[in-house]
Amino acid sequence: MTTVLIKGARPYGEGDPVDVLIEDGVITDLGALEVPADDTDAEVIDAAGQVLLPGFVDLHTHLREPGREDTETIATGSAAAALGGYTAVFAMANTDPVADNAVIVDHVWRRGQEAGLVDVHPVGAVTVGLKGERLAELGTMAKSEAKVKVFSDDGLCVADPLLMRRALEYSTALGVVIAQHAEEPRLTVGAQAHEGEQSARLGYTGWPASAEESIVARDCLLARHANARLHVCHVSTSGTADILRWAKERGTQVSAEVTPHHLLLTDERLATYDPINKVNPPLRTGSDAEKLRAALAEGVIDCVATDHAPHAVQDKDCEWNSARPGMLGLQTALSIVVETMVRTGLLDWRGVARVMSERPAEIGNLTDHGRPIEVGEPANLTLVDPDTEWTVRGVELASIAANTPYEGMRLPGVVTATLLRGRITAREGKITQ
Ligand code: NCD
Ligand code: ZN
Ligand code: ZN
Repeated sequence: MTTVLIKGARPYGEGDPVDVLIEDGVITDLGALEVPADDTDAEVIDAAGQVLLPGFVDLHTHLREPGREDTETIATGSAAAALGGYTAVFAMANTDPVADNAVIVDHVWRRGQEAGLVDVHPVGAVTVGLKGERLAELGTMAKSEAKVKVFSDDGLCVADPLLMRRALEYSTALGVVIAQHAEEPRLTVGAQAHEGEQSARLGYTGWPASAEESIVARDCLLARHANARLHVCHVSTSGTADILRWAKERGTQVSAEVTPHHLLLTDERLATYDPINKVNPPLRTGSDAEKLRAALAEGVIDCVATDHAPHAVQDKDCEWNSARPGMLGLQTALSIVVETMVRTGLLDWRGVARVMSERPAEIGNLTDHGRPIEVGEPANLTLVDPDTEWTVRGVELASIAANTPYEGMRLPGVVTATLLRGRITAREGKITQ
C-alpha cells in the first residue's frame, strides 16, 4: 500500500488547514490526522500555508514526438507538465507523422503511460495529414486503446465549412469534441503580427481580428444547427469573447480556452523585433487582454490552456518572418494565472480550480481528473505555495526547447507538489521518480 499524508493544506484556499490522507491512489480521510501506526513507508508532506487544488488539466499541449524530438519528447513534456502542476495533458496532433490514425495516437498514449508523470491524451487530427481535404477516421481513433476524446487540426484551421460541418456531426455520434484553431486562411496570408498600430509601425503583415472572429461565428452557427459541441482554441480577441457570449446565451454548446500569454502579454512587446514574442494567434492589444481576463472570470471563456509550443533555437533565434510561432507554457501557466487573475481579484482559488482543472477535464471528457477534493475521489492533486515568487530561466525548465517569453521575470505562485493517482510526481521543483 502506498500512503501519502498531506499536513495542513487549505483545499481551494478556503477554511482552516486540514490533513489529507491518500491510500492506494484515493483520498481516504480529511481532518486532523496522523499516519496510520502500521504504515511505516508513508510519505508526509508538510503543506502549512499552501493551497490544495485538483491536478491541472491542459487541453492544448504540443509535445513534439514523433518527429521533432530535438525540441520536446513525451517524457520531457510530461516532466514539464508535472512540474507545472498538471496531472493530464492533451497532446496536439500536428506531429510528424500527423496523429491522424490509431497507430500514432495509441503510440502517444502508451509513451505517456510509460513516462508515468501525467496522463497524455492524444488529440486526433480532424483531417488526413492536417490537409483539410478529407476527414480522418475519427471513429477508429475514438475506439482505439487511446480512446481519443478531442479532435483538432490545430496549427491549421478546418477552413472548409462542409468538412467542419461533417466533423461536428460525427463528433456528436461518437461523443467527442472538435477543437478549432480559428483562423480564416485567406485573411492571414503572410500574416506576422496582430493587425493594428504596432504592425503598421513595425512593417509586419497583419493578422486581423476578423480572421479569428469570422471562423468562431461560423462554427458557433454550424455547431448549433448540427446540435453538436464545439471547442474554440486559444481565444485572442475581445470580439471573439463577444461572439461566445452571444452563442452561449442562445444555448449553443460551445466552450473556449485562453492561453496564459494572451492574458498577460500584448503586441507592445513586438517593438524589440524579438521572435520569442511570435505566436499564433498573435499577441493582441492591452484592451484585448483586459477583456479576455474579464471573460475568463465570468465563464464566457471556460478555461486556461497553455498552447505549450516548444521550438528549436534555430527556429526562434532568427529573422522574424522565418521564425516559427509558439511559446513554452506548461511550467509558467499557474504563475501567469496568479499574476493576471488572482492578484487582480478576478478569481479566487476556487476559480483557479475551475479554469485550470474542472472545466478542462469536463470539456475533454475525463472522468478521473478535475474531481472534488473529497473522500473516495482519485488523488490527482496539486499543492501551491501562493505567496512565494520565483524567477523564470528557460534553461532551467524541463522542456528541451527553452523558448519562454517570460525569461528573467519574477512571478508569484510556486507548485510545490503534484500527485498522480496518489503518487508524488513532482516535489519542490524536482521530478520524483
Ligand atoms: C503552434 C505550434 O507550434 O505547433 N504554434 C503556435 O504559435 N501556437 C500551433 C498552434 O497552436 O496553432
Ligand atoms: Zn492553434
Ligand atoms: Zn496549438
